[in-house]
Amino acid sequence: MTKTEYRFTFGTTESRVYIGEKLPSSGDELCGTAKALVVCDSNTEYLARRLLKGGEIPCCILPPGEPEKTWESVERILGAAYAAGLGRDGLIVGVGGGVITDIAGFAASIYMRGVRLRLISTTLLGMVDAAVGGKTGIDLLGIKNLTGAFYPAEAVYMPLESLAALPFREWKSGLAEVIKTAILAGDREMFSRIRSFRDTCLTEISRAGKNAGDMAGLRSGGLEYLISRAVEIKGRIVEEDPRETGERRALLNLGHTFGHALEASAGLGRLTHGEAVAWGIVRACELGHVLGITALEQALEIRELIQSYGYSTEAPHPAMGNTDEYFRALEGDKKKKAGKLVFIVPSQGNAEKILIDREDLRFRSILQSIINGEYQF
Ligand SMILES: NC(=O)c1ccc[n+]([C@@H]2O[C@H](COP(=O)([O-])OP(=O)(O)OC[C@H]3O[C@@H](n4cnc5c(N)ncnc54)[C@H](O)[C@@H]3O)[C@@H](O)[C@H]2O)c1
Repeated sequence: MTKTEYRFTFGTTESRVYIGEKLPSSGDELCGTAKALVVCDSNTEYLARRLLKGGEIPCCILPPGEPEKTWESVERILGAAYAAGLGRDGLIVGVGGGVITDIAGFAASIYMRGVRLRLISTTLLGMVDAAVGGKTGIDLLGIKNLTGAFYPAEAVYMPLESLAALPFREWKSGLAEVIKTAILAGDREMFSRIRSFRDTCLTEISRAGKNAGDMAGLRSGGLEYLISRAVEIKGRIVEEDPRETGERRALLNLGHTFGHALEASAGLGRLTHGEAVAWGIVRACELGHVLGITALEQALEIRELIQSYGYSTEAPHPAMGNTDEYFRALEGDKKKKAGKLVFIVPSQGNAEKILIDREDLRFRSILQSIINGEYQF
């Protein structure tokens, strides 16, 4: 299937990414002689079926969506793996968006203390972000990704054909991560290609109706460039800091501290991940600006791009309900370090990490005014 191939080294694991037209042509190409279990959801089952060798490869089909990113789903996969007779040399293949690749990856990391993992990423968000870099996990206690493992897949396939069936809202969700990547990498070329992709994207998708259809317009408008560039940027950053112990990988969380708290306070699954991240990036611009880190020009340019794609950027967000709940979710963010909240804010053409003491009254009032929509630039 390969058109573009990347080879990354994440810690001790070599992880290859194949971006191409079609799915691997058969279960044999995908699994070789390994005993395998395919994991998908009911929306990606039609893709998974093409790999199952007429039922020879067992398949665990989960219901779709963020609310399924649970222990129960992991248990179902572990049970299916055992029932299928997977041993320590077994292979788990996740076929789906970020929810499936996160859960399947986590299950692979703990089944018999770790079995082989391959992923077929079928959403834009999965391709440009979730399937690359080895973070796996589930939501717990209402907190996004509270439990998980670093467990890079040995191979990740990105069949562009799968995007044709993707609902418009999911397209936009993925584009938010593309925008994020261009900002944190300070990649002007990518930024301007995202800007010029906007008209093609919105026109083509509205013409096609529910989803992108044959995608010819999107392809000629630069879709493949944006996916490849996002994969390359993320992969290189993770190579430098695979377990997020330094500063580099944390930059990929631009918009996520604000965004995850929004997803949690709105009720997991109500907003797409990208909708929450887009909103969170605008809040990160406001925070960076009030702290004198993000220049006004950069903040305005980012906000304008995000608004031009039609994301909801107002604060408080209409889905948030009550802001006290939002702040509880923010305080519970798992990215905090030694009691400090970690935010990534745009700075001088890219992004930087800042730590905020939760007890600092000045910061508390800044955050309050940002979330309540009282801060304007
Ligand atoms: N591990 C990471 O580094 C990382 C990074 C970013 C996001 N994530 C996680 O990814 C998740 C979001 O991923 P997502 O946006 O892909 O959501 P998702 O997996 O829920 O997919 C979105 C929807 O599209 C459906 N779908 C998937 N592929 C399809 C296809 N080809 N055609 C039609 N429908 C299809 C799914 O069934 C689902 O209903 C979140 O849980 C987030 O935390 C992880």
